[in-house]
Amino acid sequence: MQDLIVCIGETCHQSGAEHVLKTFMDLVAAHKLENEITIKASFCIGGCCEQNEVSARLGDSLFQVSPETAEQVFTKQVHSSPTLNPEV
Ligand code: FES
Repeated sequence: MQDLIVCIGETCHQSGAEHVLKTFMDLVAAHKLENEITIKASFCIGGCCEQNEVSARLGDSLFQVSPETAEQVFTKQVHSSPTLNPEV
């Protein structure tokens, strides 16, 4: 089980963090990854933070995502995670 943490700090919130959070939750459900990934929200996770980007962390991997790239980034990060082997 890994935590996928989405930053909901002020800058990330203004960049669409809630949309990213919902997209990730929908993707976890769609790919039946509920037993592999726990979605969490957190205030600033230290990835600060370009405008129009949201910081997120999966395991040790910190990355930037936007509402428009959320699905693509999710797939890439899940595939590159050494502890996840989902059928996506
Ligand atoms: S406000 Fe999101 S990483 Fe700092």
